[in-house]
Amino acid sequence: MVTEQEVEAIGRTLVDPRQPLQARFRALFTLRGLGGPSAIAWISQAFCDDSALLKHELAYCLGQMQDPQAIPVLVDVLRDAHQEPMVRHEAGEALGAIGNPEVLDVLTQYCTDPVIEVAETCQLAVRRLEWLQQRGGKPEPAGPYLSVDPAPPAEERDVRQLREVLLDETRPLFDRYRAMFALRDAGGEEAALALAEGLCCGSALFRHEIGYVLGQLQHEAAVPQLTAALAQAAESPMVRHECAEALGAIARPACLAALRAHAADPERVVRESCEVALDMYEHENGPAFQYADGLEQLVAMPVLVGEEGPQGWSRAPALYEEYRPPPLDSVRLPRHVLYLLLAALLVVAVAYAIVGHLVKDLAHDLADWAFGLKPDQGAAPRELRPGLEGEDLEELDSELALAWRDGEDTSAAREGAPEETPMRSPRRPSVAVKDPPTWSSFWRLP
Ligand SMILES: [Fe+2]
Ligand SMILES: [Fe+2]
Repeated sequence: MVTEQEVEAIGRTLVDPRQPLQARFRALFTLRGLGGPSAIAWISQAFCDDSALLKHELAYCLGQMQDPQAIPVLVDVLRDAHQEPMVRHEAGEALGAIGNPEVLDVLTQYCTDPVIEVAETCQLAVRRLEWLQQRGGKPEPAGPYLSVDPAPPAEERDVRQLREVLLDETRPLFDRYRAMFALRDAGGEEAALALAEGLCCGSALFRHEIGYVLGQLQHEAAVPQLTAALAQAAESPMVRHECAEALGAIARPACLAALRAHAADPERVVRESCEVALDMYEHENGPAFQYADGLEQLVAMPVLVGEEGPQGWSRAPALYEEYRPPPLDSVRLPRHVLYLLLAALLVVAVAYAIVGHLVKDLAHDLADWAFGLKPDQGAAPRELRPGLEGEDLEELDSELALAWRDGEDTSAAREGAPEETPMRSPRRPSVAVKDPPTWSSFWRLP
């Protein structure tokens, strides 16, 4: 159970502009996971920040929480023309994600906003709310991704058909979004490449959503297209931002190079996105289980909770006071590769335990065959008599066993043995001799 004081400690990190952006993002996602009125209140406070990137993420998180208590602050942000277009866009999208039909009027009002990204967002949100109403308010079934999307996935499953709809700019944006989310859910390289083609389509809103979806899909096939979009200075900052974060989520070495190349981009939202994406990259390649680690930080620093100051503010230092972005110089193995290597080692060990002795015997036989006569043996190699079978083979085995055991000349032993029935050593299989000499050879294969 999380206490109010813990929520407050995380909230103070979120609203503190002196905190590193990565730490504020992690605090935000922790509050999103916690939910409730206090978390919403802390998130709402941060809309006065000067980072458009942070503010658009606040709106996104409020939408994903689907709590109607967030509606008033989201409507205020949508109405506020001083907020950046990407922040207003995300507020409109969040209102659609909450799914409450009471916001239909305000959304309809902004369907003709002069900022095209805001207008298109509100059109999509209205379509989503209407779609929900047609289903009696029943949301789409949960897919493999736990996000609340601006459109439900299409029912079509064929990747080629979906690609056609996605790239057909004469179709309504809502239908193309439905194809986009169906392609994401289908997954795989073909779907990732089809989605990446969408980065060349006409609407900046559409392209930014493609970047977002590719970040969810985390398929390496899209890295070149995402890198190219990030590198285009003329591209909308909103699109470049999503491409940067997608590269952070995909988290392959090629992504690291692209993100570092734009870590000092003149566009603030791109620069900050690369900063956050590098933190995501580190998280994806590191041992930590959870990106939203605000509660873990509280456990690590319990002193942060419990000291109440004036006006209810804690005097204790904020979360991540000692936070330093982790070094990214060493590219470590992704966790799944590590697990695969461990599994392979385990399989090899078990297989060796099962068939190891057979391998050893085979090696001895091969050594016999390859190196021939033991130098100190002195006896000429014997030819394998043709046509040996049955009893003759058993007899030959016996001879071999006796010879290896005692180092005696087997032909001499045969001369001294009774004529009728020679004494047999216990039967030993030809290849399963337990103590074969290194250089011995009694016969050679022709
Ligand atoms: Fe967005
Ligand atoms: Fe975004």
